[in-house]
Amino acid sequence: MENKLNTKIVRIEKNNNAQEIISEAAKIINDGGLVVFPTETVYGIGADALNDDAVDKIFKAKGRPQDNPLIVHISSMDELNNLVSEIPEKAKKLSEAFWPGPLTLILKKSKIMSDKITAGLDTVAVRYPSNEIALQLIKISGKPIAAPSANTSGKPSPTEASHVIEDLMGKVDMIIDGGSTYIGLESTVIDMTSDIPMILRPGGITKEDVESILGECEYDPAIIKSNEKIIPKSPGQKYRHYSPKAEVILYKGSIENIAEKINQDYEEALHQGKHPGIMSTNQTEKYYNSKTTLCMGDRTKLLTISSNLFSCLRKFDEMGVDVIFAEAVEEQGLGKAIMNRVGKAASKTITV
Ligand code: TXA
Ligand code: MG
Repeated sequence: MENKLNTKIVRIEKNNNAQEIISEAAKIINDGGLVVFPTETVYGIGADALNDDAVDKIFKAKGRPQDNPLIVHISSMDELNNLVSEIPEKAKKLSEAFWPGPLTLILKKSKIMSDKITAGLDTVAVRYPSNEIALQLIKISGKPIAAPSANTSGKPSPTEASHVIEDLMGKVDMIIDGGSTYIGLESTVIDMTSDIPMILRPGGITKEDVESILGECEYDPAIIKSNEKIIPKSPGQKYRHYSPKAEVILYKGSIENIAEKINQDYEEALHQGKHPGIMSTNQTEKYYNSKTTLCMGDRTKLLTISSNLFSCLRKFDEMGVDVIFAEAVEEQGLGKAIMNRVGKAASKTITV
């Protein structure tokens, strides 16, 4: 049996004792412990990236497969030089444009990055987040911080401290509650080791954003088509991820067609004795009178949907819903990342 840790939960609000809390958290990092902290994307479970024993604890706490490498978080450009062996011109340009922010760059690793972090790859994933609590924690600890999303492996990433508490209570030393995260989906991961940068995971920095700086950029074929024969370059993308307990069915097509088909399937599910739920949008709520729905947000403001998505999936679990009917959104800009995550949670897609 694992020893249960006495997890300390602390809330940071504007103007309260942030400095004191972050100093305590930094001490835990320096002592080889685990601290969960907010970022602008999702909550991360952090450890000193230069301490293999501490990094090992992350894998245990999450139940994460050892072959899935971690992202190392920094709080200034200077810190990057120690972690990587070279910084290509294109990576420099992207970092200048989008760091600090929801962007992770895959670069050739330096000797100080252990195989534990990189899962034996010769590259390392680095991110410079913009969340003030995350930045202060990295600065004050004086260490690069390895941090995957702070969920149990396979569950949706946490966007609120309550999600972290549900998954990791007793498995980490401290949870810093900084409120709801802003974007709600994990960072964009881009491989900068090939000539044309390749998006391995879509996120808050979109393909269009990258093209505006570099001119060209491609998606890893594995994220466009789910085809078991294509092996994703990002090990994390091969796992069925982001899944609530309920079955998720994704509906693509015009709004009216989607709503009509979901209404039919909802009635059918009730008939079979199931507890269905509909993940709707502001524009479609009106079609689902008196049915069980959670509204993700506004189709014309995709940030409202991205920030709510994982929270909706978890809420349906709490409500005892066993089949979720999810509406597709347009796969443009942030919509690409939203559809990537819903697609991974879904067991089937119906096009109407
Ligand atoms: O927004 C985020 O990125 C959050 C916050 C906490 O920063 N972190 C996060 O970490 O989502 P994680 O571990 O849940 O996802 C990291 C992804 C995984 O899919 C992993 O396979 C991929 O990045 N990755 C890490 N190192 C890699 C490498 N060297 N080459 C390719 N993919 C890599
Ligand atoms: Mg994750």
